[in-house]
Amino acid sequence: MTSHEQTTLILEVKAITRRFGGLVAVNAVSFTVSQNEIFGVIGPNGAGKTTLFNTITGLIPPSSGELLYQGQDITKQKPHQIAGKGIARTFQNLRLFKNLSALENVAIANHIHNHSNFFQGVFGLAQATRQEEKTYQKSLELLELVGLADYAQQQACNLAYGDQRRLEIARALALKPTILLLDEPAAGMNPNEKGTLSQLIRQIRDEFKLTILLIEHHVPLVMGLCDRIAVLDFGQLIALGKPETVKNDPAVIEAYLGDE
Ligand SMILES: Nc1ncnc2c1ncn2[C@@H]1O[C@H](COP(=O)(O)OP(=O)(O)OP(=O)(O)O)[C@@H](O)[C@H]1O
Ligand SMILES: [Mg+2]
Repeated sequence: MTSHEQTTLILEVKAITRRFGGLVAVNAVSFTVSQNEIFGVIGPNGAGKTTLFNTITGLIPPSSGELLYQGQDITKQKPHQIAGKGIARTFQNLRLFKNLSALENVAIANHIHNHSNFFQGVFGLAQATRQEEKTYQKSLELLELVGLADYAQQQACNLAYGDQRRLEIARALALKPTILLLDEPAAGMNPNEKGTLSQLIRQIRDEFKLTILLIEHHVPLVMGLCDRIAVLDFGQLIALGKPETVKNDPAVIEAYLGDE
C-alpha cells in the first residue's frame, strides 16, 4: 500500500491486555489495521500472538482494552457474533472435522453462512436441494482456489499437514469474511508449499478484497508478504511498521537472538 492511497481503518486494537492468573500474555497492545492490508504479527514462542488473535475473535475476552471493528465496539461480543460480522480465522492447532471429507468441511461453513434451513422451511425441499447444490459448487470452487480440488472426497484426517492448513483457509473463506486471521498457516509446510501459500494469500486478499492478519514464524514469508508487521515479545508490542523497518529494529533483533 503506498502512502497516497486512501486507507480506511477496519480494525482498532486499543490497549488490549489479557492476563492468565499472574501472567500477562498480552500487555496493553495497540495498533490499527487498514482495509486490504496484509498485517503480520510475529514474535518468539509464547509472545502472546495467538492470545491476541483469541481476543480479537472473541474466543477469550480481554482483561482490559477495546476492540473496534469498522468503528463499532466488539470487545464484549461472543465468537459467533464476531464471526457473523465477517471476522474469520484459522487455528494454529487445526480444528477440522477430521472424519468428514475436505468438501464437507467447507460445505458446512458455507451452509452456516447461507442459512439453508431457513430456505428449507420457507420454500420447501426443492429449493433446499438447489441451495445445497449451490453450496457444494461454491465449496468446490474454494477447494480449487486453495489447490485441493483433487482431494475433495478425501477425509480431512488423511490429508497431508500442509493440505489441512489450506483446507482451513478454504473453510474460513466460506464464511465470506472481510477480515481473515491466519494463525501460522505455513507451519509444517515444505519450502515449496510456503512459496505457493504466499502467492495464495496475496491472491485471496486481492480477489476477495480481504484484510488479512497473519501470525507466522517463517520470517522470509512474513517479510515478503506483509504490508506492515507488529512484533510482540513477552506480551508487549516492541515494534510496528513496514517489513524493512522492523527487520532492522535493534529491539526486534534482540528479541529473536534472545530466543535462540
Ligand atoms: N488459556 C491459557 N491459560 C493460561 N495461560 C495461557 C493460556 N493461553 C496462553 N497462555 C500463556 O500465554 C502466553 C502467550 O501464549 P500464546 O499462545 O498467545 O503465545 P504465541 O505467541 O502464540 O506462541 P507460539 O508462537 O508458541 O504459538 C504463554 O506463556 C502461554 O503459556
Ligand atoms: Mg501461537
